[in-house]
Amino acid sequence: MLKRKDLLGLKDVSKDEILQILGCAVEMKEVLGRDVKKTQHLVGKNVVTLFYENSTRTRTSFETAAKIMSANCTSISAAVSSVQKGESLIDTGLNLDALLTDVIILRHNMSGAPHLLARNVKASVINGGDGMNEHPTQALLDIFTMREEFGDDLRGLKVVIAGDVKHSRVARSNIWGLTKLGADVTVVSPRTLLPTEIDKMGVHVCDKIDDAVVGANVVMGLRVQLERQQSKLLPSVSEYMQFYGITQSRLAKADSRAILMHPGPINRDVEISGAAADGDGSRILKQVTGGIAVRMAVMYLLTGGKA
Ligand code: CP
Repeated sequence: MLKRKDLLGLKDVSKDEILQILGCAVEMKEVLGRDVKKTQHLVGKNVVTLFYENSTRTRTSFETAAKIMSANCTSISAAVSSVQKGESLIDTGLNLDALLTDVIILRHNMSGAPHLLARNVKASVINGGDGMNEHPTQALLDIFTMREEFGDDLRGLKVVIAGDVKHSRVARSNIWGLTKLGADVTVVSPRTLLPTEIDKMGVHVCDKIDDAVVGANVVMGLRVQLERQQSKLLPSVSEYMQFYGITQSRLAKADSRAILMHPGPINRDVEISGAAADGDGSRILKQVTGGIAVRMAVMYLLTGGKA
């Protein structure tokens, strides 16, 4: 059981809590290998996914996880809800409380929206991605995938995060989580796509991807988020691929057992070549499956479940 109502980010979660979630996720992953994928972990609980932004992986895996654990699961898209009639986030949350909701998974384009909701509702709130801030369950599933590959002790594991770090909630959550577990994290990005606070985040910064990937155990690509760029921060997409894209030839410079990760959705031949994404070292789809187990663990532990 987690001694917190909500999971809003990895910045304010302890190493012990991260390890508790990841340990529970190992047990949940075993369920996914069964013919009958059904447990009683959330029987009688009401789970709502409340998404103000598009999603394929996060929303579907939370809903799959909830249904596997026998929860009642309802999906709300802001685009077709009373949000369109002017209802505020807090009023929406209060109504979800009145509808006996136990867990709300919120995705919102505003950084801090899950924190605001969590302060105003009785239900547990899980951040499903808020603006440029955090995407904690994505980072947890990424770390889960690394532990499956390299063992539980990630101290000294060389992880390279390549791409648009500035706009990436996935990068931020991974940096907070991985550094707490002792991994050696390097970010590589055009300077215009680095957050101003990067020097205080406990990571190495590298300008050249060809240098950054040498000897890496994990190369994690990030999506180029053209929709979040108010000004033109990249000269061109083809130039980005040339100087920062993840390719088979660049991956060949990494450790011989290195794996390629990406949170998705991938933009083929924008930040990652199709051959790299589909190559032997790619764990991109394995990440997605692991995400079900991690989200099962998070919902179970937040609602009083014991690992
Ligand atoms: N990785 C991720 O958050 O994907 P979705 O936007 O499809 O949920």
